[in-house]
Amino acid sequence: MSDLPIELINKVTWKIPNALCLVGSRHGDEWNGMTQSWVTQVSMEPVLIGISVDQKAVTHRLIEQSGVFTINLWDATDTRPFVKFSKPASKEGMTLNERPIREGETGAPVFEEAVAFIECEVRQAIDVGTHTLFLGEVVAAGVSDDEAEVAAMSHTRMKYGGVKRH
Ligand SMILES: Cc1cc2nc3c(=O)[nH]c(=O)nc-3n(C[C@H](O)[C@H](O)[C@H](O)COP(=O)(O)O)c2cc1C
Repeated sequence: MSDLPIELINKVTWKIPNALCLVGSRHGDEWNGMTQSWVTQVSMEPVLIGISVDQKAVTHRLIEQSGVFTINLWDATDTRPFVKFSKPASKEGMTLNERPIREGETGAPVFEEAVAFIECEVRQAIDVGTHTLFLGEVVAAGVSDDEAEVAAMSHTRMKYGGVKRH
């Protein structure tokens, strides 16, 4: 444990610019979408995307069980879903929290409204503490709006990360 003040660790980690997206996951009849900010490409060959997921999250269990996930990049002008998707999502028909989805090639949900999506198959799952870093190889992808500005943490007043609150 470092002896840096908690406030300082929070302040600096919250300054790291992060994307804000929805991660889709599914195992059998259980589907979920989750607000995610820790996402980045980590390798070019193979093309791997890393997402770090809370080990207590429903999404964590679904990705562990299925070995797949989707990343859904969102329009910066519509940040409302990020509040709703920070709790387990409710599925009605082919919607999650009333947002239309379809079954992706991997079987995981792809959000119809996403400006771009990436489907991944997990190649490595690294236990990093509170979270697991899932490294997924890109197996399918699409762009539906090439002009839209993609949502980032800086478009909201939300924060994620820093020191775990007990
Ligand atoms: C702005 C924001 C960013 C978030 N980023 C992440 C993240 O990168 N990784 C993570 O595990 N949870 C993140 N969360 C928390 C999850 O969205 C939240 O814990 C969710 O309830 C857990 O998902 P579940 O539905 O799979 O249980 C974030 C929440 C917010 C509000």
